[in-house]
Amino acid sequence: MTIQVIGGAGFIGGHLVDALIQQGEKVQVIDNLDPLVHPAGAPPSHLPPQVEFHRLDVRDRAALLGALEGVESVFYLGGAVGVADSMYRISHYVGVNSLGAANFLDILANEKHTVRRVILASSVTVYGEGKYACPVHGPVHPGLRPVEQTSRHDWEAHCSIPSQGRPCGAILRPLPTSEEASPAPESIYAMTKRNQEEMFLAVGRAYGIPVVVLRYFNVYGPRQALSNPYTGVAKIFAAKLARGEAPTLYEDGLQSRDFVHVDDIVQACLLALRREAAWGEIFNVGTGRQTTILELANVLGQLFGYQGEIKPAGLYRVGDVRHCFADITKIRAQLGFAPRKVFPAGLEDLLQGQILGSASEADHRSAVELGERGLVR
Ligand code: UD1
Repeated sequence: MTIQVIGGAGFIGGHLVDALIQQGEKVQVIDNLDPLVHPAGAPPSHLPPQVEFHRLDVRDRAALLGALEGVESVFYLGGAVGVADSMYRISHYVGVNSLGAANFLDILANEKHTVRRVILASSVTVYGEGKYACPVHGPVHPGLRPVEQTSRHDWEAHCSIPSQGRPCGAILRPLPTSEEASPAPESIYAMTKRNQEEMFLAVGRAYGIPVVVLRYFNVYGPRQALSNPYTGVAKIFAAKLARGEAPTLYEDGLQSRDFVHVDDIVQACLLALRREAAWGEIFNVGTGRQTTILELANVLGQLFGYQGEIKPAGLYRVGDVRHCFADITKIRAQLGFAPRKVFPAGLEDLLQGQILGSASEADHRSAVELGERGLVR
């Protein structure tokens, strides 16, 4: 029986495909080869030759149905990715992510098929801000910081719970975010991911098809394409440092994330595929380690032998999350997940494959686009 990887030509999908092939599985890849991720318009050269490849768009129901013949398990990783991009290509993101997913689920609901397991790739982005503790009110899950606040360069999140007729205002201390935190998607992209989570789980329950949702935190690793609007800060910094340039540190550099190596994402995917305890559940996939952006820049600076000063650039990105890192208690306990490459392990993988020309071009495109739309100030 075949394992289908939708989005299998992408960064995470590609690593997952390699692992499945190594385990002797029969793998089929579905990918539309989005030009932002695959500028050459061809499947990536690292795709193992034994993989059955279909170039198709998830919005094409008939083609999707045709490819599903003999498929037993599906990893659904395909989609339009990028938080900032989603805020100005709204119908594109909703079309690909929500309607594309709806097509797939519609097939499961209405057609004869052999699918026995579905694993959906979701994202930390569905949480919006992470969880925090207020010294007065205890655990809170605030909204994004208002622009009036960040424009004053007041970076930490404040408690907004009313207290004596005004918002409490206390500075919040970040806590690990668990799956129980209510989703608070803040971008169109995040909304489509949350929408996918709910649709997949509901259809899975209704038709008795085990569905597992994995919420990836900030993923890094080899083969991440800088041209992809979703590619995160680790790759962006590595590309700059490889050119001998200082990384652009937004805010004060003390904002934090949970950087998870793509090998550990693959580990979680395989556990979700094979462990019955995963069925019908949502899991965070991170490391549990809170890492500041400054720490990331310094470690990468050392790896690249960068001699210059690394300091905040006096800029910030509108709508950024201040802190979010994973509570991985659930995936550890229920699936036996244990991250193997916890920061800074694995960062040396970012030394590989720096294509300097295209890197600077893509970096430039992204910075100019965000600047033009007033999203970096
Ligand atoms: C990113 C993705 C998001 C995804 C999430 C989890 C984008 C732009 N970001 O959001 O889609 O859901 O990871 O995988 O699509 N930073 C700098 N300098 C830079 C770039 C970023 O200081 O040149 C800072 C940012 O201000 C932020 C932090 O680094 O505080 C992380 O940024 P990024 O890598 O984009 O991650 P997320 O914001 O978490």
